[in-house]
Amino acid sequence: MAAAHYGVVFQGSLTTPLNSDASLPKSVFKNKKIIFTDKPWMSFSHLELKTKKKPSRYHSINSMSTPQAVDSSKVLVSPLVLEDSPEPPLNIYKPKEPYTATIVSVERLVGPKAPGETCHIVIDHGGNVPYWEGQSYGVIPPGENPKKPGAPHNVRLYSIASTRYGDSFDGKTASLCVRRAVYYDPETGKEDPSKNGVCSNFLCDSKPGDKVKITGPAGKIMLLPEDNPNATHIMIATGTGVAPYRGYLRRMFMESIPKYKFTGLAWLFLGVANTDSLLYDQEFQKYLEDNPGNFRYDRALSREDKNKNGGKMYVQDKIEEYSDEVFKLLDEGAHIYFCGLKGMMPGIQDTLKRVAEGRGEKWEDKLSKLKKNKQWHVEVY
Ligand code: FAD
Ligand code: A2P
Repeated sequence: MAAAHYGVVFQGSLTTPLNSDASLPKSVFKNKKIIFTDKPWMSFSHLELKTKKKPSRYHSINSMSTPQAVDSSKVLVSPLVLEDSPEPPLNIYKPKEPYTATIVSVERLVGPKAPGETCHIVIDHGGNVPYWEGQSYGVIPPGENPKKPGAPHNVRLYSIASTRYGDSFDGKTASLCVRRAVYYDPETGKEDPSKNGVCSNFLCDSKPGDKVKITGPAGKIMLLPEDNPNATHIMIATGTGVAPYRGYLRRMFMESIPKYKFTGLAWLFLGVANTDSLLYDQEFQKYLEDNPGNFRYDRALSREDKNKNGGKMYVQDKIEEYSDEVFKLLDEGAHIYFCGLKGMMPGIQDTLKRVAEGRGEKWEDKLSKLKKNKQWHVEVY
């Protein structure tokens, strides 16, 4: 038996502790054989997967120590006290007094034919900079601000791509999905490293053990509304805009969260350049396999696929393909999120307006209703 699991393939029978009690042994694997997939950039070597295939002696430990109902197909997380606050944490660390965190790992997420580089960066904050899914961290790159000699660089924001428990499920790390900003001289078309983006290059070049100054967490716009576990969430991303959704989806489908048992529909539309540029694709494919009734995943590959007019297939063209369903879900109260390139918003609005008019509806009215009902969430950069 072999099962692709979030970028890692497990073979043989698997047993794992069911405890979410931090005082119990944290990871006990029996008969585990890990084989990395054919996509080395997908292998999160730091990832401690805790999943269970059949009952084990750890059941009894769990039932004695933690009365919570456990969904056996999901990963146990701790500390569950991270669920307790009624409000999200906000700006615990500010630019004048940032937190010095440590890089755990940096992995290239994209294949060789992707135009550009995007990295998955795991940062150890020791549990000191807690956050909720959909929030961002600020990063202050080392060095001097060229516009203010003697002063540090300005803060750059990055959406957090993990859940509050981090990729090792212990509440001590946060992951970022960072695209390296490369500057090409418009005259020669050649890269000019002296003008490359400061912070994204610092992060993508960093090594395990390096220190990184972080601020935050920041932002409330992209928090996942959890009042209705049966809600529909339509998530639109271009490139690294997928980051907050990776957090949402891990919380919905991967982690065992006693007070959030997702039974609704999550629908991800992801726009990237080509197959090699896909981000976290194996993780998302796995959710599809395991939760076909609760997850939909549509990809727009701009440099491989064509839209109905023969132009580039952008994420808005994919939405248009499913516009009847999307509009129906919005009318029924679905949340819709947009994250990624600022440039996508005019095209998306044009598409939605055209679709609305085709249905005899006025887009402006619909949009203000969506905003009023707090169904409309935008974070573009
Ligand atoms: P900068 O040094 O700030 O440079 C910006 C751009 O200008 C670069 O493209 C650079 O090549 C170009 N440039 C630099 N110098 C020159 C020059 N002399 N002449 C001409 N051009 C020049 N980014 C992500 O990758 N992932 C995320 O999840 C993410 N989330 C975000 C969330 C929010 C809410 C916001 C506001 C932004 C987010 N960003 C994210 C963008 C991120 O904050 C940075 O803006 C981005 O990484 C570029 O920062 P940098 O320091 O690398 O580039
Ligand atoms: P393209 O660069 O082909 O024009 P990636 O990080 O992999 O480059 O993903 C970003 C994606 O967003 C690409 O597919 C890019 O297409 C696409 N994109 C660029 N501009 C827009 C836009 N105005 N609207 C929607 N998608 C866009």
